[in-house]
Amino acid sequence: MGSCRQIAAQLVAPGKGVLAADESIATMSGRLEKAGVEATAENRRRYRELLASTPGLADGASGIIFCDETLRQAFADGTPFANAVRGLGILPGIKVDTGAKPCCGLPGETVTEGLDGLPARLAEYAEMGAAFAKWRAVYLITDELPSAGAVRSNANALARYAAACQEAGIVPIVEPEVLMDGDHPIERCAETTAEVHAAVREELGLLGVDLAGIVLKPNMVVEGADHACRATPERVAEATVGVLRAWPDELAGIAFLSGGQPPGRATANLEAMQHHRTPWPLTFSFGRALVDPALAAWHGDPALVAAGQALLAERVAANANAVRRRARMQAA
Ligand code: 13P
Repeated sequence: MGSCRQIAAQLVAPGKGVLAADESIATMSGRLEKAGVEATAENRRRYRELLASTPGLADGASGIIFCDETLRQAFADGTPFANAVRGLGILPGIKVDTGAKPCCGLPGETVTEGLDGLPARLAEYAEMGAAFAKWRAVYLITDELPSAGAVRSNANALARYAAACQEAGIVPIVEPEVLMDGDHPIERCAETTAEVHAAVREELGLLGVDLAGIVLKPNMVVEGADHACRATPERVAEATVGVLRAWPDELAGIAFLSGGQPPGRATANLEAMQHHRTPWPLTFSFGRALVDPALAAWHGDPALVAAGQALLAERVAANANAVRRRARMQAA
């Protein structure tokens, strides 16, 4: 338990966030193909090495989340990814869920799977050097959804995952993601996010999960992607922090997902949050908002690795600077 608390604190250390590079093989393959890169295991490896070996990455990234395939791969020099990033001063993490799957009894919704055999897999990942893990549950907003059944089932799975991680000495990143899909107003996202979090808190409590040894990875509270107007960063920050205030002080920290927001908007929203005093750090664990520009610039060309890395470094620095502002303000 003690070591989980220490690692969780390291993940949300002042001025740092977590890079999510853990897309499943199918999702990563689709993104590579869209960028004009053939979807092979070697190209996925090359892309992840480009990200992980970005010069200066450790200045703004405390950890990187990989998927199973990457954790079993190695840098071109033969060093396994987990050892390579540890050598660079970054904690390696592993996505351990096996995806959001349709669920009997919940038409149109999903429950995230991966609990079968989880303790054995966690033991193997710990052996391979993983310091932390991630599990993502997704919730769709419509006029009727999410249903109480989806909210409860996903919360229970998140808690069972978190308890198994802490038992294995691995910090669980607990990710309940209310999707941006839809044309709902920001108030509906706030209400749904609050309902989802309440269920997650309850299930974590029932299984005795130590909140000081987890990192919560929520969506920011924003309007639906098809809503007529965009909320300002100040409004997003106020709505998001308003929902998060229900979390106890002992929670180690909060690291937001970007959820498909344009990179600049995700950073502006993160920065606006720093103006609110909270008992826990508020940082980033973005995927697309950090890596999309790098992937587009590289598009598989070995001559453009440095160009891709420069764009990743720029996005990481922008977000790290946003959260550093908090450290300065709260010290003042
Ligand atoms: P995005 O920031 O692209 O939403 O990804 C974060 C993540 O880890 C999704 O599970």
